[in-house]
Amino acid sequence: MPTAAPPSAERDPGEQPPRRAARATVSSAALRHNLRRARELARGARVMAVIKANGYGHGLVGTARALRDADAFAVARMEEAVALREAALDNPIVLLEGVLDAQQLPLASALGLELVVHSPEQLEMLESTTLSRPVQAWLKLDTGMNRLGVSPEMGREALRRLERSDNVLPGVRLMTHLACADERDEAVTAQQLARFDAALGDLPGERSIANSAGLLWRPDAHAEWVRPGIMLYGVSPFADNTGEDLGLRPAMELLSTVIALRTVRRGERVGYGGVWTAREDARVAIAAIGYGDGYSRHLGSGAPVLVRNQRAPLAGRISMDMIAVDVTRVPEVRVGDEVTLWGAGLPVEELARLAGTIPYELLCGVTQRVGVTMS
Ligand SMILES: Cc1ncc(COP(=O)(O)O)c(C=O)c1O
Repeated sequence: MPTAAPPSAERDPGEQPPRRAARATVSSAALRHNLRRARELARGARVMAVIKANGYGHGLVGTARALRDADAFAVARMEEAVALREAALDNPIVLLEGVLDAQQLPLASALGLELVVHSPEQLEMLESTTLSRPVQAWLKLDTGMNRLGVSPEMGREALRRLERSDNVLPGVRLMTHLACADERDEAVTAQQLARFDAALGDLPGERSIANSAGLLWRPDAHAEWVRPGIMLYGVSPFADNTGEDLGLRPAMELLSTVIALRTVRRGERVGYGGVWTAREDARVAIAAIGYGDGYSRHLGSGAPVLVRNQRAPLAGRISMDMIAVDVTRVPEVRVGDEVTLWGAGLPVEELARLAGTIPYELLCGVTQRVGVTMS
């Protein structure tokens, strides 16, 4: 009996996927284009491609393969780093939150992972272990985000201790993270850069500060390494424009299929709660995608989808597995037609605004049963 691929399976380019109702296609050419664009903007800085959270929903290993030319990958979890090494990807990998506990250190060392050290506890872990192979450390300074990082006052002492440790390679690198670059907040960003500089500016060592927004907006924050995430997927970090406005190419299309069509008489209501009422006799298409696939329930009536290359509005609430679309103005729609939830002609940035969230959340939220196919 043939075995079905697991729902989360990522496929190699060219491999035929089984047909799915809801599916995502990811263009490796778009990912590569966006990496080239990041490099152009980085003007000689090295590029650490941020591919955590399943490559922002695009598939971890497929994304990493497409972005192989990156100078390093950044992930958030040990499991993500292990999956990359198991897939024989040998780029440097930075663990953005470092290790969780001392037990993870030998594995990190064996896999050649680079560790962010952001807390006194992690510093002590590194000092009180014996690794057969020292690791590259990135000392993270908290310059105002108040999330991870040692305080600027502790920065020099932490650096000295890392440099003294036999478990750490010479040439400790320095990093911080910008809290408000996506809002182009001049004052907060300038203060963060000034704190970083005041704490460690006179010391040697490679540095990394800029996420996508920093890379796009603050050339003075580029340093030796930039850390773009969202822009590599062709999506803007800013609320007021799209990736295409920035010369990027959206990599993901989220697609589904019309599985039923019906006429809804004037005055009839559609879906849970009956929150949408037909103001005239309407044609409603049911497509097989819902919040169980990661299509946000915060998108309600009126949010657009594309069918037969035309926009049509959602009619009523999103169910777990289905949506209803008012296709009265697109009478040629048939069962079996493809529906685009986001992708070419329908930027995920627009949907995120309508859902009251950010594109990051919509992309990362695509669930396992949506097969990702790389083209
Ligand atoms: C420490 C760090 N650097 C870089 C990034 C990439 O950010 P962006 O996707 O906004 O480019 C992230 C993402 O959250 C991050 O946590």
